[in-house]
Formats: sequence, structure tokens, C-alpha cells
Amino acid sequence: MLLRQAVRMHVASVGVTKFCFLFSLAFCGLLLLLIPTLRPLARQVELPQPRAYVRPAQMPPPQLAVAPVSQAHAVAATELHRRRNNTTAVWTDSEGAAFSTRPGPRDQLEEQDVFIAVKTTRKYHKSRLELLIQTWVSRAKEQTFIFTDGEDKELRLRTGVNIINTNCSAAHTRQALCCKMSVEYDKFIESRKKWFCHVDDDNYVILPSLHRLLSSFHHSQDVYLGRPSLDHPIEAAERVKSDGSVSVRFWFATGGAGFCISRGLALKMSPWASLGNFISTAEKIRLPDDCTVGYIIEALLEVTLTHSHLFHSHLENLQRLPGVSVLEQVTLSYGGLENRRNVVSVGGAFTLAEDPTRFKTIHCLLYPHTAWCPQTVAPSKP
Ligand SMILES: *[C@@H]1O[C@H](CO)[C@@H](O)[C@H](O)[C@H]1NC(C)=O
Ligand SMILES: *[C@@H]1O[C@H](CO)[C@@H](O)[C@H](O)[C@H]1NC(C)=O
Ligand SMILES: *[C@@H]1O[C@H](CO)[C@@H](O)[C@H](O)[C@H]1NC(C)=O
Repeated sequence: MLLRQAVRMHVASVGVTKFCFLFSLAFCGLLLLLIPTLRPLARQVELPQPRAYVRPAQMPPPQLAVAPVSQAHAVAATELHRRRNNTTAVWTDSEGAAFSTRPGPRDQLEEQDVFIAVKTTRKYHKSRLELLIQTWVSRAKEQTFIFTDGEDKELRLRTGVNIINTNCSAAHTRQALCCKMSVEYDKFIESRKKWFCHVDDDNYVILPSLHRLLSSFHHSQDVYLGRPSLDHPIEAAERVKSDGSVSVRFWFATGGAGFCISRGLALKMSPWASLGNFISTAEKIRLPDDCTVGYIIEALLEVTLTHSHLFHSHLENLQRLPGVSVLEQVTLSYGGLENRRNVVSVGGAFTLAEDPTRFKTIHCLLYPHTAWCPQTVAPSKP
């Protein structure tokens, strides 16, 4: 009672100004105490954006996303921690070279999330396509699309694979090839799938390896994966952004070995690739289809090709691939009529005479329970 009276008297005598002064002192103290806890939170938010995908070699400055402070509070510390832990994974190819950092969360990739485009032409339906349909395509019927230049109702009905008649010319010209790539791109965008992979009709796709490779990235990042066909970047006159008086240097993934593009990146390509624009872009720079893809991605969008040695074309010496690592590759090929001996050296289910491309042998090593595979598969010899 006495105390309360004393306080009341004190407050009355000292006056409102002093009370306010004390109150603000206390408030300032509280703020000072809070600052160290606010600062790390604000710094943690400056993480690379999931889309800012950076190769360790020739590392450009990472794009930092600084969220407004109010937003920073909304992000729980554990969430930030989880995101940070997930920004450090490194994918290593078979040769042991770490070539990609992978910011952003791991992709929960389902098999049907990958759109696989196979480019072919009417005259190869029997000789090349049938082999693919019998082997790897049979394991990925729903997500594989065959882009050709003629109707083949019989093949479609008999095998149940997706065959798309592009109505493009069957000539092996730049225009005809770019026409097919243009249709492939549009069909992929329409499909809403997470990854676009293009292969040729002489490629075997090792689906488990492809899935493993793509799972180490996120489809919303800018990812362009494949084998460069040259050991140096190509140089071309810049005729899209300027009048052709300056030249640009860029890498491109060779189409014959197959390449993949994330959906995030494919959407950014749209101004130069969608609805026939791909054909006019290729015409402007006068380069083949796979070079044009590289041009749009590296020269126009400034996204770098992630070089991978897991993709293989018939232009390589395929016999050099060590037998033990063959099943770890993403794509394989074979020499064809001009170079019958250029095939991967795997032994097993079939002799070279029975399986000149080695695709059936590979298939039986991957899926030994396939009906047409010999049920006791001999171990592969290198
Ligand atoms: C990474 O992210 C995934 C999915 O967002 C999550 O399940 C996983 O636990 C995270 N890993 C780490 C190390 O935090
Ligand atoms: C993130 O990684 C650190 C260090 O490895 C570990 O102590 C922490 O528990 C991890 N946090 C999460 C959410 O996984
Ligand atoms: C090709 O032409 C046929 C017949 O006109 C048409 O139904 C089909 O949609 C065309 N294909 C493409 C990819 O435009």
C-alpha cells in the first residue's frame, strides 16, 4: 500500500517525460539484444537462387537473392538449414571429374517425367527403329516419342509406341533436321514433362543411368547436358542479336550422342525455339539443328553446357569404352554400315553375328528377364 502510494507519487512528481525516456532506453536495449539474432537470419537468406546454376570451372559470380527482411522472418531457420545442406551436392561422372554443383533441392524424378525424343526418318523404320523398339524403347513406351517424316500406321499399331509424323521433309538437309527439332521442342513443351532428351535412331539409351544423371539436377534449374562434338567452342556470326558483324563463341552438345535440357531452361528458349521460331533462328545463323540449340542456350541465354562423357555417338571409337563401364553410360551407339566394327565391346547373350550393334546384348545385361534373352546370361567379357 505504502509502496504503491510512493510509486504513484514518484510518477506524478517526476512527470511523463522521464517515464518516456526510461521506456525508450529499455526499448533500445531490447533492440540491441535482438540485432545479433536477426543478422545471421538475414545472411542465410542470401542463398543462391535455385535457378542460379553454376559450374565450378569458370565460376561466374553467383546470383544472390536477398529477400526482404519481412520475408526473412517468415522462413523458418530449419528450412534455411535444409536448403543450405542441399546446395553442396556434386555430381561426378565416370571419369571422376566433378563437373556440377547442384543448388536447390534434389528432384524427386519419376521415370515418366523425362520426355525422350528419337529422331528418325521413314527409310530407317525397319533397319534402325525396330531394334530400338525391341530393346530400350519397350521399357519407356509412355515417355518416348519417335519423330519421323512419314506415316507408319502398321508400326504404331503393332508396337504401341508414340510415333509423330512431323510432316517435315525426309531430306537430310539443315532445314529438314531443324524442322524436326522444332516439332520435338513444341511437343515437349506441350507434354509438361520435366526433362527434354533428344537422341538419334542409332542410340541405345541406358534408362537407369539417364535417370540417375537427371536426378542429380533439378528440372527448374538451367541445365543443358551432353557431349561437345569438338574440343573447342564453335564460332559463328551473331545474326540474331546483331547484324552479323560480330561473332560469338559457344559450345554445343552433339545431337548424335543425345543431349538433355531441363524444363526451366527449355521455357527460356521459347522466343527462339517455339512454334517454328527454331527454324528461323537456325536459318539466321545457318547452322545445323544441334548447333542451333547450343547457340540459343550458350550464346543467347548465356547458360553453359555441362560437358558429359556419358553420351556417345557413332563418331567416337566405341570399342575404347571399358567393358565394365558400358552399363554406366547414358547413351551408346554403333558404327553402322560404313564402320561395322565400331561397336561397344560387351560379350554375353549374343555373338557379334547375331547382334552386330551389341544393343540386344546390352539390353539382356540390363534386363536379363526379357522374354527373348537367353535365360542363362554369360558374364560379360571386356
Ligand atoms: C534435401 O532436400 C530434400 C527434398 O527437399 C530432403 O528430403 C532432404 O532431407 C534434404 N537433405 C538434406 C541433407 O537436408
Ligand atoms: C545440415 O548439415 C549440418 C552439418 O553437416 C548438420 O549439423 C545439420 O544437422 C544439417 N541440418 C539438416 C536440417 O539436415
Ligand atoms: C502432319 O499432318 C497431318 C495431316 O495433315 C496432321 O494431322 C498432323 O497433325 C501433322 N503433324 C504435325 C506434327 O503437325
